[in-house]
Amino acid sequence: MTDPGLARAKVNLALHVTGRRADGYHLLDSLVAFADLGDRVTAEPADALELRVTGPMAAGVPGGEDNLVLRAARAFGPAPGARITLEKHLPPASGIGGGSADAAAALRVLAALWGRDLPDAAAVLRLGADVPVCLRGETLRMTGVGEVLAPAPPLPPVWAVLANPGVAVPTPAVFAALDRRDNPPMPADLPRWRDAGALAAWLHGTRNDLEPPARALHPVIGQVLTALAAQPGCLLARMSGSGATVFGLFPDAAAAARAAAQLARPQPGWWVRAARLGG
Ligand code: C5P
Repeated sequence: MTDPGLARAKVNLALHVTGRRADGYHLLDSLVAFADLGDRVTAEPADALELRVTGPMAAGVPGGEDNLVLRAARAFGPAPGARITLEKHLPPASGIGGGSADAAAALRVLAALWGRDLPDAAAVLRLGADVPVCLRGETLRMTGVGEVLAPAPPLPPVWAVLANPGVAVPTPAVFAALDRRDNPPMPADLPRWRDAGALAAWLHGTRNDLEPPARALHPVIGQVLTALAAQPGCLLARMSGSGATVFGLFPDAAAAARAAAQLARPQPGWWVRAARLGG
């Protein structure tokens, strides 16, 4: 983790829902990668805990105690104060980490500021099922409800276009709308993909099980998927997490940049970015 304050966008390259626990949380099998763009968390010493939310996506992010950054700060237990700034660039409630990545970045930044160890694994998981993987910030296979992290082969050079049509999608509603909760997991062994084409070909044999219910709730997600899949060079178009952000995979930076520009031109209300995936 070279840049602890960067809360990188999380992309679920595949997300299988394989079961449900007695407490209602779902068992997942997901290949998670990170983009080279995200929110930024900074902190400086202060007497009390304070949070300021800035940046182009600040509207709609809770600034009070509900904010995951403040909840992350409290997970350290009694601690000195800090003046924390969250610079919000990722659309909130959009399936690419957002709040979880912010919480993870806050944990890293505050551990450094205060010279403290990170909170234990259970406290980290209580912040959100995606916080453990965001804390690692590398390409991983995520199972359990999000707390079991296993190494994944390194990604080949691959670029993504991330596109969000501006609908906030609450995760619980998408899980609740699932038809089946006992889908098969991903193949047991992940291969070492030689290039972006091989990665996409392998991913075509996997799924995001949350995509059908999210599309049924928000048909505009299907519109974004169709528009992205039609871009020259797009190897795969799929939704990330519980949506509404959709990603397209591309073999090089130029193709991704062209596709992002094409996609954004007729849709000024959509959030569209090109990024390198890796971890
Ligand atoms: O853990 P987090 O707060 O991010 O989860 C938000 C909601 O998503 C949960 O309240 C739950 O309804 C759903 N969820 C789930 N199974 C998971 C992760 C999230 O059912 N593994």
